[in-house]
Amino acid sequence: MRTIDWRNDRIVLIDQTLLPGTVKVIHVDTVDELIDSIKRLAVRGAPALGVAGALGVALAAKNGDDVREQAEKISKARPTAVNLSWGVSKVLAKLDQGTEAMIEEAKHILEDDIRRNADLGRRGAQWLIDRLGPRINVQTHCNAGALACVEWGTALGVVRALQERDAIGHVYLDETRPLLQGARLTAWELQQMGIDHTVVVDSAGPTVLARGLADAVIVGADRIAANGDVVNKIGTYPLALAAHRAGIPFLVAAPESTIDPDTPDGARVEIEIRDAAEILGEHTPDGSKALNYAFDVTPADLVTAIVTDERIINGKPLG
Ligand code: MRU
Repeated sequence: MRTIDWRNDRIVLIDQTLLPGTVKVIHVDTVDELIDSIKRLAVRGAPALGVAGALGVALAAKNGDDVREQAEKISKARPTAVNLSWGVSKVLAKLDQGTEAMIEEAKHILEDDIRRNADLGRRGAQWLIDRLGPRINVQTHCNAGALACVEWGTALGVVRALQERDAIGHVYLDETRPLLQGARLTAWELQQMGIDHTVVVDSAGPTVLARGLADAVIVGADRIAANGDVVNKIGTYPLALAAHRAGIPFLVAAPESTIDPDTPDGARVEIEIRDAAEILGEHTPDGSKALNYAFDVTPADLVTAIVTDERIINGKPLG
């Protein structure tokens, strides 16, 4: 089933906070409910956030809300993934054409997400096969699978396309502290796909690469700056450094909507800092502080290539 969808004039989405134990579908009838779902990561992952933003503006129009005001609120629900404000502004641009036109645009973005991610997955798989041969072991981070999109996935979409070609070996995945998008969501998706996989703690990711267990790293992105810097889930940057040291490709898989030509470099991207309570717990002494960065910046020179639904970018200006 789709991660997020529009049915009977409302948004439906899988509550990802409950996975893998419970598959629960939530019905979202108001913009406030949507914003709550985005903030607590019931819906998450850059392309899915783009679709959520688009559907949220359509929902505001359908509910007779002040659409501009609600659009602004949705855009700010999470700051780092550019897809969220991208999806919002695509549908807001249809405001003059009325509610039906806005709903149609949001549904178009939703359908397009599936097609575009399937395209980029197949392009990325071909790129890897051309360089690494017919059987490839990979390392990934966080969840850039179907759950981070409407269907199919970006980084895990490349893995899916490798599987179509009988070219996927083993997948290593970081558990992705503190909310475990890797251990909970990516492992669940790989299990459903019937792909051999191994979960490691985040700090073991570089060791997996140093020991030659993976032939390439594939990750998604939340925002790609104009100079090619890649912003993705915290823990991506150490993997890029380790891939560089190990001399293996570091591939970023993302739709064109993740490229932000208005942000010159990664240093200008707002990095979401989430609640310290996600890190602190019974294991930490009372009074300890936590700094819960949700994303990091991988400098462009550590990225071997970016595969999108339209092109492969390696070393050339993004345009
Ligand atoms: O905090 P999350 O779970 O929304 O972070 C998601 C990621 O960092 C993904 O790697 C990224 O959005 C790409 S998803 C195709």
